[in-house]
Amino acid sequence: MAKEKVIFYCQSCGAESSKWMGQCPACKEWNTFVEEVVSAKKGVRSGVKNANQAKQAKVTKLRDIETADNARISTQIAELDRVLGGGIVPGSMTLVGGDPGIGKSTLLLQVCRNLANSGKKILYVSGEESLQQIKIRAERIGEFEDTLLLLCETNLDLIGEIVKRELPQIVVIDSIQTMYNESVSSAPGSVSQVRESTASLLQMAKGYGIAFFIIGHVTKEGVVAGPRVLEHMVDTVLYFEGDRHAAYRILRGVKNRFGSTNEIGVFEMRSFGLEEVKNPSEFMLGGKPEGASGSVVACSMEGSRPILLEVQALVCRTNFGMPRRTAAGTDFNRVNLLMAVIEKRLGLSMGNCDAYVNIAGGIRMNEPAIDLGIVLALTSSYKNRPIEEKTICFGEVGLSGEVRAVNMAEQRVLEAKKLGFTTCILPEVSKSALPEIDGIRFIGVKSVKDAVHFAV
Ligand code: TYD
Ligand code: MG
Repeated sequence: MAKEKVIFYCQSCGAESSKWMGQCPACKEWNTFVEEVVSAKKGVRSGVKNANQAKQAKVTKLRDIETADNARISTQIAELDRVLGGGIVPGSMTLVGGDPGIGKSTLLLQVCRNLANSGKKILYVSGEESLQQIKIRAERIGEFEDTLLLLCETNLDLIGEIVKRELPQIVVIDSIQTMYNESVSSAPGSVSQVRESTASLLQMAKGYGIAFFIIGHVTKEGVVAGPRVLEHMVDTVLYFEGDRHAAYRILRGVKNRFGSTNEIGVFEMRSFGLEEVKNPSEFMLGGKPEGASGSVVACSMEGSRPILLEVQALVCRTNFGMPRRTAAGTDFNRVNLLMAVIEKRLGLSMGNCDAYVNIAGGIRMNEPAIDLGIVLALTSSYKNRPIEEKTICFGEVGLSGEVRAVNMAEQRVLEAKKLGFTTCILPEVSKSALPEIDGIRFIGVKSVKDAVHFAV
């Protein structure tokens, strides 16, 4: 019998310790250590055992390595391809995280359908749902070809055998938290199980050149259950986010070894599965009130794509000594800072006001270019004067109230023009670098004072 010993793992960063600790010395999180029983590994290898092994390991010159750029497999979902950096890379491993019920299984089943329909061999392994449940979901999504293989299994050794036998091109593992490795004695979903399972999947991925998608649940705190180690091991980490009550979902790349991480994909949950949203700006601005104070359209770049969004603010006198402030969809501290700028540079007494700022639609935007939008929304609500319709604004606001240049001004303006906007409030510096654009009136501003003077 292998000797069993107890190890404590930090759930947040994966640090190991032989005794329990209240605070993790590595990541300084509290109460993250959990106990796990690990059986001592038999025959841990160290050093090179024989000459054969030494012969097999060899070095290669960089220029002798061939890359096949066209080897990427398109998922035929443009939004997903964009986030992946142009398609699925064979032999890669992608982690898709997100809250329960957000649509991870649906998205990947749709990917499976598209790829199966284009003749690829796909294996979908579910540890969460029965074959009947998958069938019911598949019927909502549409027609499937026969090349899609389904498997309900949680034992990774068996999954490994089947992968070896069938050699599919793409494998989807529906939830890494349900998978278990027999050689690890702790329960499925625990830190060491998740880590070992991912490691053995990774071996299959690199060994056979199979692309893996693994689904990971997100805990209440918003991290993939199991340690951060998981994120380090895989090639690409995608998060599926969005309000469960709103219909649209955003797929965000957090890490990508084969592409940019700035890109986002926008989807809408329909009765027949997820549908791509080709023009997110239109979608985000749907339902914008007309002639209401405290509402302004700003423009944020998400990767290479501009997205117009509505910034809403509500400012009213506080009834308590301590004003209440909230920020939904953007950085709370940034809002506080911008309120201080308004107070000091515009002389409006925001100090005794409650303020609520919201990016309509539940999307999260942290680009500094929406600063000007927040400032205008706040002042518009404070003065209770609406901002003219068909006006958009963008610009970063500095501490002295100056409006600073932002990148890709032209793309932003063109997006606004496409949606029928006619006035654009932008940093003076960015304006002078822009060519004339038909049908758009540019208002270059140097400071928040200029902007507020013009707009509110
Ligand atoms: P699911 O993919 O099961 O979520 P996850 O795997 O991330 O937990 O998504 C399920 C939700 O999506 C569920 O609330 C039902 C809804 N849904 C639709 O609205 N339309 C559909 O066509 C499908 C398949 C699901
Ligand atoms: Mg699921």
